[in-house]
Amino acid sequence: MKIRIALGLFLVLIGALAAAGPYSFTGVGLCSMCHRGEANHMVYEKWLASKHAGAFKRLDPTKGEDKNPECVGCHTTGFGAGGYEIGAANAAKFEGVQCEACHGAGSAYKAVAVMKDPTLARQNGLIVPTEETCKTCHRSASPTFKGFDFTQALKMIDHRYRK
Ligand code: HEC
Ligand code: HEC
Ligand code: HEC
Ligand code: HEC
Repeated sequence: MKIRIALGLFLVLIGALAAAGPYSFTGVGLCSMCHRGEANHMVYEKWLASKHAGAFKRLDPTKGEDKNPECVGCHTTGFGAGGYEIGAANAAKFEGVQCEACHGAGSAYKAVAVMKDPTLARQNGLIVPTEETCKTCHRSASPTFKGFDFTQALKMIDHRYRK
């Protein structure tokens, strides 16, 4: 019995660690250094032109929405996971739906030697986003939700160049 309880507690703790994740968020400023310009397929510029970049600006400060934990989670990057934090000095760094909201926290995969190696990058936290990734935000918990068509939505934010 005692062993079972101890094992159960152990698994819960492991679960909590997995949820927090071993990686930290860097902010889009860092990703942009290597992923901007014609030579790098305008990935950053495409993101900047997408609604995701301006998502935080949709929240109305006069109504306190920008400080409402029930709003900021899907309008910022890494909320509750070491990224955006309400009132934090570095909060501006994580405003909007940035690269890491879809590709995972970049502290370990950001190194160029890791980035260039697809296997190593994934082993260090890089996520290849799928429909499920989108649906962490594009779901009925969003007050403005009107459904989500993945194929259509992907076209609108597409920045793939190795097709
Ligand atoms: C020091 C430069 C550098 C930084 C910083 C950097 N990247 Fe990269 N990234 C690269 C290079 C180089 C590649 C490989 C490009 C290629 O093969 O076309 C790459 C590839 C990728 C890929 C495709 C990987 C694959 O295997 O499918 C993604 C996604 C990506 N980067 C996202 C990011 C994100 C998000 C950040 C910020 C957290 C970031 N990168 C920061 C240089 C960088
Ligand atoms: C579960 C994630 C989620 C939460 C929580 C959330 N949003 Fe959003 N928000 C989204 C998504 C995704 C969109 C894009 C449109 C859609 O599908 O709802 C969006 C769009 C918006 C827009 C633009 C709407 C439009 O029609 O152009 C506004 C304004 C907005 N949200 C405000 C808020 C406010 C205020 C709150 C808190 C009360 C909030 N959101 C909470 C995910 C969320
Ligand atoms: C961290 C939360 C989050 C994730 C993850 C996310 N989105 Fe969004 N998305 C938003 C929010 C918030 C908006 C609303 C931005 C605005 O209106 O300013 C939005 C807006 C959009 C829009 C613009 C919709 C319009 O009516 O113009 C598209 C397209 C979109 N998302 C596609 C995707 C796709 C595809 C994925 C997955 C690959 C994805 N999103 C993942 C939060 C998210
Ligand atoms: C809303 C989610 C979302 C955001 C935000 C986002 N990406 Fe992506 N990214 C994707 C998806 C989806 C793919 C395609 C994955 C696949 O190959 O199926 C992708 C692919 C990539 C690739 C590989 C391109 C290729 O041709 O294989 C790179 C590099 C990349 N993203 C970098 C970035 C960078 C840098 C940022 C921020 C400036 C960013 N992404 C923001 C969802 C996102």
